[in-house]
Amino acid sequence: METGLSGKRAIVTAGANGIGRAISETLMAAGARVHICDVDEAQIAAARATLPGLGATLADVSDVAAVDRLFDEALDAMGGLDILVNNAGIAGPVAPVDKIDPEDWRRCIAVDLDGPFLCARRAVPAIREAGGGSIVNISSTAGLFGFPNRSPYAAAKWGVIGFTKTLAMELGPNGIRVNAICPGSVSGPRIDAVIAGAAKADGITEEAMRNIWLRQVSMRTFVEAQDIANMVLFICSDAGAKISGQALSVDGHTESLSA
Ligand SMILES: NC(=O)c1ccc[n+]([C@@H]2O[C@H](COP(=O)([O-])OP(=O)(O)OC[C@H]3O[C@@H](n4cnc5c(N)ncnc54)[C@H](O)[C@@H]3O)[C@@H](O)[C@H]2O)c1
Repeated sequence: METGLSGKRAIVTAGANGIGRAISETLMAAGARVHICDVDEAQIAAARATLPGLGATLADVSDVAAVDRLFDEALDAMGGLDILVNNAGIAGPVAPVDKIDPEDWRRCIAVDLDGPFLCARRAVPAIREAGGGSIVNISSTAGLFGFPNRSPYAAAKWGVIGFTKTLAMELGPNGIRVNAICPGSVSGPRIDAVIAGAAKADGITEEAMRNIWLRQVSMRTFVEAQDIANMVLFICSDAGAKISGQALSVDGHTESLSA
Protein backbone atom coordinates (compact mmCIF):
# COMPACT_ATOMS: atom_id res chain seq x y z
CA MET A 1 0.00 0.00 0.00
CA GLU A 2 1.39 3.46 -0.91
CA THR A 3 0.71 5.43 2.25
CA GLY A 4 1.78 8.90 1.14
CA LEU A 5 3.16 9.38 4.67
CA SER A 6 6.79 9.92 3.71
CA GLY A 7 7.92 13.25 5.16
CA LYS A 8 4.65 13.85 7.05
CA ARG A 9 5.04 15.25 10.57
CA ALA A 10 3.19 13.59 13.46
CA ILE A 11 2.74 14.12 17.19
CA VAL A 12 1.80 10.99 19.15
CA THR A 13 0.87 11.51 22.81
CA ALA A 14 1.99 8.86 25.32
CA GLY A 15 4.22 7.52 22.58
CA ALA A 16 6.97 6.02 24.74
CA ASN A 17 5.21 2.76 25.55
CA GLY A 18 2.23 0.52 24.75
CA ILE A 19 -0.08 1.43 21.86
CA GLY A 20 1.53 4.86 21.35
CA ARG A 21 4.95 3.30 20.91
CA ALA A 22 3.59 0.89 18.26
CA ILE A 23 1.89 3.82 16.49
CA SER A 24 5.12 5.87 16.54
CA GLU A 25 7.19 2.99 15.18
CA THR A 26 4.65 2.26 12.45
CA LEU A 27 4.38 5.88 11.29
CA MET A 28 8.20 6.18 11.27
CA ALA A 29 8.49 2.94 9.25
CA ALA A 30 6.17 4.58 6.69
CA GLY A 31 8.58 7.52 6.44
CA ALA A 32 6.89 10.01 8.77
CA ARG A 33 8.70 12.16 11.32
CA VAL A 34 7.34 11.57 14.80
CA HIS A 35 7.50 13.59 18.02
CA ILE A 36 6.07 11.98 21.14
CA CYS A 37 5.24 13.14 24.63
CA ASP A 38 5.10 10.98 27.73
CA VAL A 39 5.23 11.34 31.51
CA ASP A 40 7.80 8.53 31.92
CA GLU A 41 11.33 9.80 31.37
CA ALA A 42 12.90 6.33 31.40
CA GLN A 43 10.45 5.03 28.78
CA ILE A 44 11.13 8.09 26.62
CA ALA A 45 14.86 7.32 26.78
CA ALA A 46 14.22 3.65 25.91
CA ALA A 47 11.99 4.60 22.96
CA ARG A 48 14.55 7.08 21.63
CA ALA A 49 17.31 4.47 21.94
CA THR A 50 15.44 2.04 19.66
CA LEU A 51 13.89 4.61 17.31
CA PRO A 52 16.62 6.95 16.04
CA GLY A 53 15.20 10.31 14.99
CA LEU A 54 12.23 10.13 17.37
CA GLY A 55 11.56 13.54 18.94
CA ALA A 56 10.26 13.68 22.49
CA THR A 57 9.02 16.03 25.20
CA LEU A 58 8.38 15.10 28.81
CA ALA A 59 4.78 16.28 29.15
CA ASP A 60 1.50 15.32 30.83
CA VAL A 61 -1.40 15.86 28.38
CA SER A 62 -3.66 17.13 31.17
CA ASP A 63 -1.31 20.04 31.92
CA VAL A 64 -1.97 23.13 29.77
CA ALA A 65 1.57 24.53 30.12
CA ALA A 66 3.18 21.14 29.42
CA VAL A 67 1.06 20.66 26.28
CA ASP A 68 2.07 24.15 25.11
CA ARG A 69 5.72 23.20 25.64
CA LEU A 70 5.18 19.94 23.71
CA PHE A 71 3.73 21.78 20.72
CA ASP A 72 6.34 24.57 20.83
CA GLU A 73 9.16 22.01 20.80
CA ALA A 74 7.59 19.66 18.22
CA LEU A 75 6.58 22.40 15.77
CA ASP A 76 10.02 23.97 16.09
CA ALA A 77 11.80 20.64 15.52
CA MET A 78 9.62 19.40 12.63
CA GLY A 79 8.75 22.77 11.04
CA GLY A 80 5.00 22.07 11.09
CA LEU A 81 2.42 19.36 11.67
CA ASP A 82 0.28 17.05 9.52
CA ILE A 83 -0.94 14.43 12.01
CA LEU A 84 -1.96 14.39 15.68
CA VAL A 85 -2.59 11.08 17.43
CA ASN A 86 -4.29 11.68 20.79
CA ASN A 87 -3.33 8.37 22.35
CA ALA A 88 -2.68 9.21 26.02
CA GLY A 89 -5.29 7.78 28.35
CA ILE A 90 -5.40 6.20 31.79
CA ALA A 91 -7.69 3.41 32.99
CA GLY A 92 -9.03 5.34 35.99
CA PRO A 93 -10.54 3.69 39.07
CA VAL A 94 -12.25 0.29 38.91
CA ALA A 95 -15.18 0.62 41.34
CA PRO A 96 -18.93 1.19 41.50
CA VAL A 97 -19.91 4.85 41.27
CA ASP A 98 -20.57 5.31 45.01
CA LYS A 99 -17.02 4.11 45.79
CA ILE A 100 -15.22 6.46 43.38
CA ASP A 101 -13.16 9.24 44.91
CA PRO A 102 -13.94 12.55 43.14
CA GLU A 103 -10.19 13.15 42.67
CA ASP A 104 -9.84 9.83 40.80
CA TRP A 105 -12.83 10.75 38.62
CA ARG A 106 -11.32 14.17 37.84
CA ARG A 107 -7.89 12.71 37.05
CA CYS A 108 -9.34 10.23 34.56
CA ILE A 109 -11.39 12.91 32.79
CA ALA A 110 -8.40 15.29 32.84
CA VAL A 111 -6.07 12.87 31.05
CA ASP A 112 -8.57 11.05 28.80
CA LEU A 113 -10.81 13.97 27.73
CA ASP A 114 -9.11 17.28 28.57
CA GLY A 115 -5.87 15.89 27.07
CA PRO A 116 -7.25 15.41 23.53
CA PHE A 117 -8.82 18.90 23.70
CA LEU A 118 -5.63 20.60 24.91
CA CYS A 119 -3.63 18.92 22.14
CA ALA A 120 -6.21 19.51 19.40
CA ARG A 121 -6.46 23.24 20.15
CA ARG A 122 -2.72 23.55 19.51
CA ALA A 123 -2.60 21.10 16.58
CA VAL A 124 -5.45 22.52 14.51
CA PRO A 125 -3.81 25.84 13.48
CA ALA A 126 -0.61 23.99 12.50
CA ILE A 127 -2.40 21.26 10.50
CA ARG A 128 -4.55 23.93 8.83
CA GLU A 129 -1.39 25.81 7.87
CA ALA A 130 0.00 22.58 6.37
CA GLY A 131 -3.04 22.48 4.05
CA GLY A 132 -4.87 19.68 5.85
CA GLY A 133 -4.11 16.41 7.60
CA SER A 134 -5.44 14.00 10.13
CA ILE A 135 -6.34 13.84 13.82
CA VAL A 136 -6.81 10.42 15.37
CA ASN A 137 -8.29 10.12 18.86
CA ILE A 138 -7.83 6.81 20.66
CA SER A 139 -11.15 6.06 22.36
CA SER A 140 -12.11 2.51 23.39
CA THR A 141 -14.92 -0.02 23.11
CA ALA A 142 -15.79 1.63 26.45
CA GLY A 143 -16.69 4.67 24.29
CA LEU A 144 -19.44 2.64 22.59
CA PHE A 145 -21.04 0.66 25.44
CA GLY A 146 -21.74 1.00 29.14
CA PHE A 147 -18.90 -0.43 31.24
CA PRO A 148 -19.81 -1.44 34.82
CA ASN A 149 -17.33 -0.27 37.49
CA ARG A 150 -15.51 1.95 34.97
CA SER A 151 -17.82 5.00 34.84
CA PRO A 152 -15.15 7.75 34.57
CA TYR A 153 -13.31 5.89 31.81
CA ALA A 154 -16.53 5.18 29.85
CA ALA A 155 -17.70 8.78 30.28
CA ALA A 156 -14.36 10.11 29.02
CA LYS A 157 -14.16 7.70 26.07
CA TRP A 158 -17.78 8.44 24.99
CA GLY A 159 -16.80 12.10 25.25
CA VAL A 160 -13.83 11.49 22.95
CA ILE A 161 -16.22 10.21 20.27
CA GLY A 162 -18.48 13.27 20.59
CA PHE A 163 -15.39 15.46 20.38
CA THR A 164 -14.22 13.55 17.30
CA LYS A 165 -17.48 13.86 15.38
CA THR A 166 -17.77 17.56 16.23
CA LEU A 167 -14.20 18.34 15.14
CA ALA A 168 -14.73 16.38 11.92
CA MET A 169 -17.63 18.75 11.13
CA GLU A 170 -15.71 21.89 12.15
CA LEU A 171 -12.50 20.98 10.33
CA GLY A 172 -13.67 19.04 7.26
CA PRO A 173 -13.81 22.25 5.18
CA ASN A 174 -10.09 22.74 6.01
CA GLY A 175 -9.17 19.28 4.73
CA ILE A 176 -8.58 18.01 8.27
CA ARG A 177 -9.97 14.54 8.89
CA VAL A 178 -10.83 13.54 12.45
CA ASN A 179 -11.50 9.94 13.47
CA ALA A 180 -11.62 7.89 16.64
CA ILE A 181 -10.30 4.37 17.02
CA CYS A 182 -11.96 2.10 19.57
CA PRO A 183 -9.55 -0.63 20.63
CA GLY A 184 -10.79 -3.70 22.43
CA SER A 185 -8.69 -5.07 25.29
CA VAL A 186 -5.06 -4.92 24.21
CA SER A 187 -2.78 -7.70 25.47
CA GLY A 188 -0.23 -6.44 27.96
CA PRO A 189 0.39 -5.35 31.55
CA ARG A 190 -2.24 -2.60 31.52
CA ILE A 191 -5.09 -4.98 30.73
CA ASP A 192 -3.71 -7.52 33.21
CA ALA A 193 -3.95 -4.86 35.94
CA VAL A 194 -7.49 -3.84 34.91
CA ILE A 195 -8.64 -7.48 34.91
CA ALA A 196 -7.08 -7.95 38.36
CA GLY A 197 -8.98 -4.89 39.62
CA ALA A 198 -12.27 -6.05 38.09
CA ALA A 199 -11.81 -9.53 39.58
CA LYS A 200 -11.20 -8.01 43.00
CA ALA A 201 -14.26 -5.75 42.69
CA ASP A 202 -16.46 -8.76 41.80
CA GLY A 203 -14.80 -11.16 44.27
CA ILE A 204 -13.77 -13.74 41.63
CA THR A 205 -10.41 -15.05 40.39
CA GLU A 206 -8.39 -13.22 37.72
CA GLU A 207 -8.65 -16.28 35.45
CA ALA A 208 -12.45 -16.29 35.73
CA MET A 209 -12.56 -12.55 34.96
CA ARG A 210 -10.22 -13.00 31.96
CA ASN A 211 -12.56 -15.70 30.57
CA ILE A 212 -15.58 -13.44 31.06
CA TRP A 213 -13.80 -10.68 29.14
CA LEU A 214 -12.80 -13.05 26.34
CA ARG A 215 -16.39 -14.28 26.03
CA GLN A 216 -17.43 -10.67 25.27
CA VAL A 217 -15.34 -10.85 22.07
CA SER A 218 -16.80 -12.76 19.10
CA MET A 219 -13.30 -13.75 17.96
CA ARG A 220 -12.39 -14.80 21.55
CA THR A 221 -9.17 -12.82 21.48
CA PHE A 222 -7.61 -9.66 22.84
CA VAL A 223 -5.96 -7.37 20.29
CA GLU A 224 -2.33 -6.34 19.89
CA ALA A 225 -0.94 -2.80 19.97
CA GLN A 226 0.16 -3.36 16.36
CA ASP A 227 -3.46 -3.94 15.29
CA ILE A 228 -4.25 -0.41 16.50
CA ALA A 229 -1.13 1.04 14.87
CA ASN A 230 -2.17 -0.56 11.56
CA MET A 231 -5.53 1.23 11.72
CA VAL A 232 -3.84 4.56 12.50
CA LEU A 233 -1.56 4.01 9.50
CA PHE A 234 -4.53 3.26 7.24
CA ILE A 235 -6.69 6.23 8.23
CA CYS A 236 -3.77 8.69 8.10
CA SER A 237 -2.64 7.36 4.70
CA ASP A 238 -3.87 8.24 1.23
CA ALA A 239 -5.98 5.04 1.39
CA GLY A 240 -8.07 6.66 4.14
CA ALA A 241 -8.36 10.02 2.41
CA LYS A 242 -12.18 10.12 2.48
CA ILE A 243 -12.69 8.72 6.00
CA SER A 244 -13.69 11.28 8.62
CA GLY A 245 -15.98 11.57 11.64
CA GLN A 246 -15.90 7.82 12.31
CA ALA A 247 -15.46 5.70 15.42
CA LEU A 248 -13.63 2.66 14.07
CA SER A 249 -13.52 -0.46 16.25
CA VAL A 250 -10.49 -2.74 16.30
CA ASP A 251 -11.69 -5.29 18.81
CA GLY A 252 -12.41 -8.73 17.34
CA HIS A 253 -16.09 -7.66 17.48
CA THR A 254 -17.76 -6.75 20.74
CA GLU A 255 -21.44 -5.96 21.37
CA SER A 256 -21.36 -5.44 25.13
CA LEU A 257 -18.97 -4.93 28.03
CA SER A 258 -21.26 -6.29 30.73
CA ALA A 259 -19.61 -9.15 32.58
N1 LIG B 1 -4.62 -1.23 26.67
C1 LIG B 1 -5.91 -1.44 26.36
O1 LIG B 1 -6.43 -2.55 26.51
C2 LIG B 1 -6.73 -0.33 25.77
C3 LIG B 1 -8.03 -0.63 25.31
C4 LIG B 1 -8.81 0.38 24.77
C5 LIG B 1 -8.31 1.68 24.69
N2 LIG B 1 -7.04 1.93 25.15
C6 LIG B 1 -6.57 3.30 25.05
O2 LIG B 1 -5.37 3.34 24.30
C7 LIG B 1 -4.53 4.40 24.75
C8 LIG B 1 -3.14 3.88 25.07
O3 LIG B 1 -3.26 2.86 26.02
P1 LIG B 1 -2.03 1.92 26.49
O4 LIG B 1 -2.64 0.66 26.99
O5 LIG B 1 -0.99 1.87 25.43
O6 LIG B 1 -1.51 2.78 27.73
P2 LIG B 1 -0.36 2.42 28.79
O7 LIG B 1 -1.01 2.33 30.13
O8 LIG B 1 0.44 1.23 28.31
O9 LIG B 1 0.52 3.74 28.78
C9 LIG B 1 1.21 4.15 27.63
C10 LIG B 1 2.02 5.37 27.96
O10 LIG B 1 1.18 6.44 28.42
C11 LIG B 1 1.97 7.26 29.25
N3 LIG B 1 1.10 8.20 29.97
C12 LIG B 1 0.28 7.93 31.02
N4 LIG B 1 -0.35 9.04 31.44
C13 LIG B 1 0.07 10.05 30.62
C14 LIG B 1 -0.21 11.43 30.57
N5 LIG B 1 -1.05 12.01 31.43
N6 LIG B 1 0.40 12.19 29.61
C15 LIG B 1 1.28 11.62 28.75
N7 LIG B 1 1.59 10.31 28.77
C16 LIG B 1 1.00 9.53 29.69
C17 LIG B 1 2.68 6.24 30.12
O11 LIG B 1 3.82 6.78 30.75
C18 LIG B 1 3.04 5.16 29.09
O12 LIG B 1 4.36 5.34 28.56
C19 LIG B 1 -5.27 5.02 25.95
O13 LIG B 1 -6.01 6.16 25.54
C20 LIG B 1 -6.19 3.91 26.40
O14 LIG B 1 -7.32 4.39 27.10
C21 LIG B 1 -6.25 0.97 25.68
